[in-house]
Amino acid sequence: MPAVIILGTHWGDEGKGKGTDLFSENADITVKFNGGNNAGHSVVIGNKKFALHSLPSGVLRKGVINYITNGAVINIEEIIKEIDKLNSDPKINISPKNLKISNQAHIVTNENVAEDKKDKKIGTTGKGIGPTYSNKAKRIGIRTTDLDKENTLKKYITNTTQLLNDDIKKNKKIIFEGGQGTMLDLDHGTYPFVTSSNTIAGGVCTGAGIAPKHIKKVIGIMKAYTTRVGEGPFPTELTKETEINNFLVKNGQEFGVTTGRERRCGWFDGVIGKFSVMVNGIEEILLTKIDILTGLEKIKLCHAYKINEKIYNVYPNNTKEFELAKPLYYEFEGWDEKIKGLTDYNKLPKNAIHYIKAIEDLVECKINFIGTGPERKEIICLKEPKSIFV
Ligand code: IMP
Repeated sequence: MPAVIILGTHWGDEGKGKGTDLFSENADITVKFNGGNNAGHSVVIGNKKFALHSLPSGVLRKGVINYITNGAVINIEEIIKEIDKLNSDPKINISPKNLKISNQAHIVTNENVAEDKKDKKIGTTGKGIGPTYSNKAKRIGIRTTDLDKENTLKKYITNTTQLLNDDIKKNKKIIFEGGQGTMLDLDHGTYPFVTSSNTIAGGVCTGAGIAPKHIKKVIGIMKAYTTRVGEGPFPTELTKETEINNFLVKNGQEFGVTTGRERRCGWFDGVIGKFSVMVNGIEEILLTKIDILTGLEKIKLCHAYKINEKIYNVYPNNTKEFELAKPLYYEFEGWDEKIKGLTDYNKLPKNAIHYIKAIEDLVECKINFIGTGPERKEIICLKEPKSIFV
């Protein structure tokens, strides 16, 4: 039963590209089950940076089969452009042999994009995601199965539900890559400031036609501080243009891969981290970007909120209340030692270890992988990445 879900624990941009790339080395299959080209995963291999929007990250690995299943939405022009761009790299070869798109996935039309671009409230990516899922729910959407025979995408379209379930029977190692992040989930996130799909682990079952019994494990990708793009409540947000905010934006290169927007930055929100571990059933964490915090004098960690004089150490599950949340912090001494590129846990500064352990305690989950830079090799593994499948 080697099917593993990898997803973001906060509002997206946790470094899922790095995570899925790390684990896909040992995978047979990677699957995108929600969202569309609103997503943006960046993967750095050597001195090359690849940006993935519509495609699962396994397309960068030889021998990995990639699925885009029914729960995802497809912008035909954009996905073709992405395939062509990647195929211009001599090491990449995307074809119907290694890319399979569901015949039930809905198509993002030009009208959907135009409608989404009018959004002034949510701060969407403007990629037509909300209007496409609305049409799906209204049962007036267009699906890939409706494409005419001449369409360039047609050769990729197939019954992914059957193929994936056949693969499960054959014991293939499968990674489901969550798009966006837990708090952008249509049901469980900070509604209405969410995306229009189910981003949590449960979304895999409906989004790919997989029975819950086949899911072996959920891995959470968690960033060592918290960011958000678009509108909506964010209790630990730092004030723009302050020294610490600028430090995180600049050192962490906190600009959206899809829109280029500067991300809102804040201290790590441990209440959300804990909520995310709970709703997704996360059993292991990959903590990313700890190297970015090097040089800060003090580091804060939000462990609870005060809302109308009441203390909450769990997510209040009500956006109106959440908008009033004032974060309560633990404060830690920072460190000056360089972390970037470390692969040995014992070489981490003592204060960084202290901070990592505090996150583990707060979110009630083990951190087994620690990202120390954007490159494929910049990672501390406390266990073998391939062990996630057993
Ligand atoms: P939409 O998904 O374009 O409808 O945007 C809805 C909300 O989700 C906005 O706040 C976006 O900024 C956010 N969002 C969508 N995709 C991503 C992503 O991949 N990373 C981070 N935020 C995202």
